[in-house]
Amino acid sequence: VRPPIRVLITGAAGQIGYALSSLVGHGELLGKSQRVILHLLDVETATEPLNGLKLELIDSALPLLTDVIATTNPTEACTGVSIAIMVGGFPRKAHMERKDIMAMNGSIYSKHAYALEKYACKGCKVVVVANPANTNAVILSQCAPSIPRKNITCLTRLDHNRALGQVAAKLNIPVNVVKNVTIWGNHSSTQYPDVNHGCANGITIRNAIRDDNWLDNEFVSIVQQRGAAIIKARNLSSALSAASSVCDHIRDWVLGTPPGHWVSMGVISDGSYGVPEGLCYSFPVTCKDGDWNIVQGLDIDARSRQKMDDTARELEEERRLAQDYLQSL
Ligand code: NAI
Repeated sequence: VRPPIRVLITGAAGQIGYALSSLVGHGELLGKSQRVILHLLDVETATEPLNGLKLELIDSALPLLTDVIATTNPTEACTGVSIAIMVGGFPRKAHMERKDIMAMNGSIYSKHAYALEKYACKGCKVVVVANPANTNAVILSQCAPSIPRKNITCLTRLDHNRALGQVAAKLNIPVNVVKNVTIWGNHSSTQYPDVNHGCANGITIRNAIRDDNWLDNEFVSIVQQRGAAIIKARNLSSALSAASSVCDHIRDWVLGTPPGHWVSMGVISDGSYGVPEGLCYSFPVTCKDGDWNIVQGLDIDARSRQKMDDTARELEEERRLAQDYLQSL
């Protein structure tokens, strides 16, 4: 029997943490035969709901869940973990300036970076969920230089899944016969959901849908604005779908993507597709043997180029704000 794997969830007392910890315990993160030990981290003021979550997990009697450690101590939380899911943070509120939110998250992500670098397993895989997710991942990677850059990613799989869902709904087909859409760039409203290389039921999405105007306009803005639509409907941001997408992101990264399929992941750019090096940018990737690789050689038309550059510019601006904060420390 394989030993259990330690999985960290920060911000575990929040709404994504609530949905995600149960999915992890059901084997959605690492497969149905891998036991896990959950490390749940939150802040002191969330101690009670955090402990409540631990009680509920015990009451769920999940065979794959060997143990649950609920703590407010980042050192204890990071010790021995092989997977780190970074959900804790301060989302931007209407009245807040971007640089203020960057400073608040910069302070959290620099501290968590030090704890991961020091106490996590070598080779620990990290996914940042908390917004601004891409730039929090850059901060984490800069503050934890001994963690390989390839091990630090951010979540854009929710946007990817939203794009698959929209295409499937438009064609009235099951979502699992739609593949190879791409989310380029930032997990924000500047992201570019691209169907140019995607397939539905074995033919190109453009040929299947036969409505370029819808694909180039309405589809793009539905996917870009989906987070806002969920907030409007629920008065809370997406949690169930975010948690489910985290599981997809890590499971594919660890266990591999099916042949002929790619997924979208926010990864530190190596300059592929002319994206400035060092930005955490969402690319199409395939995964094998616990490693991801950017899909190379896709044709990029002028419209796409423009949108890919626009979202890169926003990420550069965020990175500048983050750097200002880090230099002020
Ligand atoms: P939430 O507010 O319900 O939970 C956040 C939790 O983080 C709270 O329990 C809070 O106490 C905790 N926290 C704050 N500072 C912390 C620290 N220093 N250490 C540990 N925990 C800390 O928020 P929710 O809805 O669970 O969302 C979490 C984050 O995920 C938000 O930033 C949200 O914007 C982002 N998000 C990202 C998505 C993506 O696709 N990348 C999708 C949906 C949400």
